[in-house]
Amino acid sequence: MKNNKIIFAKRPVGMPDNSCFEIIEDKIEKPNDGEVLLKTLYISVDPYIRGRMVERKSYIPPLQIGEVIASSGVAEVVESNTKLFKKGDYVTGRMNWEEYPIVNEKELRQIDPAIAPLQTHIGALGMTGLTAYFGIMDIGNPKPGETVVISGAAGAVGVVAGQIAKIMGCRVVGIAGSDEKAEYLVKELGFDAAINYKTAKDIREELKSACPDGIDIYFDNVGGAITDAALTLINDNARIPLCGQISHYNEPEPQSGPRLLGNVLIRAATIKGFLILQYASRFNEGIEKLAKWYKEGRIKAPETIVEGFENIPNAFIGLFTGSNLGKQIVKI
Ligand SMILES: NC(=O)c1ccc[n+]([C@@H]2O[C@H](COP(=O)([O-])OP(=O)(O)OC[C@H]3O[C@@H](n4cnc5c(N)ncnc54)[C@H](OP(=O)(O)O)[C@@H]3O)[C@@H](O)[C@H]2O)c1
Repeated sequence: MKNNKIIFAKRPVGMPDNSCFEIIEDKIEKPNDGEVLLKTLYISVDPYIRGRMVERKSYIPPLQIGEVIASSGVAEVVESNTKLFKKGDYVTGRMNWEEYPIVNEKELRQIDPAIAPLQTHIGALGMTGLTAYFGIMDIGNPKPGETVVISGAAGAVGVVAGQIAKIMGCRVVGIAGSDEKAEYLVKELGFDAAINYKTAKDIREELKSACPDGIDIYFDNVGGAITDAALTLINDNARIPLCGQISHYNEPEPQSGPRLLGNVLIRAATIKGFLILQYASRFNEGIEKLAKWYKEGRIKAPETIVEGFENIPNAFIGLFTGSNLGKQIVKI
């Protein structure tokens, strides 16, 4: 039986395209001690993979040409060489973009399909849900009645961050890239207001009228002009969980700035960058909380699912044009 893999074929300049990826055929390997052979069921595509395509030092090594790309996935154990997992178990963890990857037991966690659909364990109950949870709760530290603005609000992290802020009793305003997304945030997820940044005549003015009491927490997924607008509206002691900067990921050269730090200064605000892996020792706490809210129906988990192993690259590229609502997942 064959095992298709997706390798990194070319460093993109600007927006990545299909020439950056290549599907190669290989054979299925046998698991060594402490390893399992998996059949991949769902793959998560994530914006941070764009950062790995650049040859530079970061918190995770850059991809090398010819390397098999990896991200979170959900899979079924086909053959086990460890006591931790048996054939037929459903697991999640970091795995290669392969139909039949071999993964070390230490990288995997068993999942219970009774809690949520399998793929939700790489979305609202996985890394992106955890990112929203710790970003809002630990760095945002929300208080009832405060105003929370989320950029990238209709994406995987954004939808969960906004819903948690609602659970905490905040007024929540989302910023997203289409009317359909903005409407979904308000009607389906209970956001108090949402702005389509692509059609807004003046994003600052729209944000100002949506936040009559100013902004106490600005959860930043995107950076750029949206963040510039938000920073002019922050209140005293505002908190800014700096989660992502996707509007800059495809820029060949970094822009100068930031230039609006004066607002951070005069408001005695706190901007804190964070990486979800820094919270690894608290993942169980986060997953328990998210699963509880999910079971109670207080958190919905919107997902955009495309089918087919060969469509992983297109699903990834679509993150930069906003083709997803909620978590972008590929069903293999
Ligand atoms: N710190 C961490 O540990 C951590 C962990 C996970 C994710 N992140 C970051 O969090 C952010 C969201 O990640 P995600 O996984 O939830 O992805 P996502 O939001 O589901 O997908 C990306 C979304 O970004 C928006 N976008 C793309 N280009 C944009 C631009 N130029 N300006 C504004 N919005 C743009 C698109 O929505 P629109 O239609 O609204 O444009 C797109 O749907 C990313 O920046 C990611 O790098 C950080």
